[in-house]
Amino acid sequence: MSQFDFIKDIAKYGLENDQNKLLSSLNELIDYSKQNKKVNFAIQLQSILKEAIRHQQTSGLTTIGSLKHQIREQDKEVNDFILEKLTSDYRLKDLVASKNVKDELSYFIEEHKKINFLREHNLPVSNKILLHGPSGCGKTLAAYVLAGELEKLMYVIDLGSIVSSKLGETSKNLSKIFRRAAAESCIIFLDEFDSLGKIRDYSQDHGEMKRVVNTLLQLFDYLPQDTILIAATNQKDMLDDALLRRIDLSIDLELPNKTQITELVNKTLSNTNFAFDNKANSLKCINSSIGLSFYSIQKTLITAIKRSIFELKPNAKQLHPKIKTDNWLDLIKSEKKVLLKNK
Ligand SMILES: Nc1ncnc2c1ncn2[C@@H]1O[C@H](COP(=O)(O)OP(=O)(O)O)[C@@H](O)[C@H]1O
Ligand SMILES: [Mg+2]
Repeated sequence: MSQFDFIKDIAKYGLENDQNKLLSSLNELIDYSKQNKKVNFAIQLQSILKEAIRHQQTSGLTTIGSLKHQIREQDKEVNDFILEKLTSDYRLKDLVASKNVKDELSYFIEEHKKINFLREHNLPVSNKILLHGPSGCGKTLAAYVLAGELEKLMYVIDLGSIVSSKLGETSKNLSKIFRRAAAESCIIFLDEFDSLGKIRDYSQDHGEMKRVVNTLLQLFDYLPQDTILIAATNQKDMLDDALLRRIDLSIDLELPNKTQITELVNKTLSNTNFAFDNKANSLKCINSSIGLSFYSIQKTLITAIKRSIFELKPNAKQLHPKIKTDNWLDLIKSEKKVLLKNK
């Protein structure tokens, strides 16, 4: 059978309202996709299926309309805090980092790939990871890498909006999200983890922050081993000590050194046919970028490429269009000026 045959069946059974056949066709398509290396598609289908089953179970719980309505409303609320539910194609090779960071991430990935083996030996599995470091150094990228390598669905949570939306309800909302994510054994990505600290500014109730931290401590403790929590922050010192102690692995993603900048530049150019107009100048640019984040360096390089090709003569077909290193250097310098001003 091909993918199209499954889709035809699914359409047919869906329109005929034949739930049993529809479900079995969907499951067949999920297996087929997994076997044909369309793992991300399979994970997304599986998530849709699980959510539908959960909905049916909750609506089947009672015939009282208002309760059904309440459950639907709660679901909607949780969805408001989930920025995205995604699968990822990123792999470790996409992240430039020190050997130590890469090794730590590899071990973490291996633990989850061999989770059953660890369980057989009664060994605990690390599942809570903190990514910290300056902005633009790959915290979000590292989370995507973990989702891609582990072929897991990732919930990206808008912590800022949970904290600020309804005061007094942060704990409740966090619990709902964790419960939902655990049911799907996926990854919970709490970006800007330090925004928890904002509770102190928003809430008049001084006990609120303490309650939220306590809830999180409990949620961390009872997180199933195959559910992964990734928290990211550029202000690690803002985090509560008790929370930090619950983290299994803490990874520092720092500003790049010269070798890492060179690797980033090579990676950025690897899928293109661009080349620098002058090798010595390109090394000068790399030296000048020290102190900038991966993101800023990549941004200036891509801008320099775009400007260089705009200057090409319309019909000039160059095998390796040249990137003007003078342009790039100017962009690096102005990026550094902005950085200094904001300090
Ligand atoms: N360590 C890195 N290796 C490769 N690319 C990086 C790295 N850090 C940042 N980038 C580039 O910059 C972009 C933004 O980085 P991001 O992961 O959002 O940073 P952060 O979350 O730490 O602020 C990435 O999508 C990637 O293109
Ligand atoms: Mg980020």
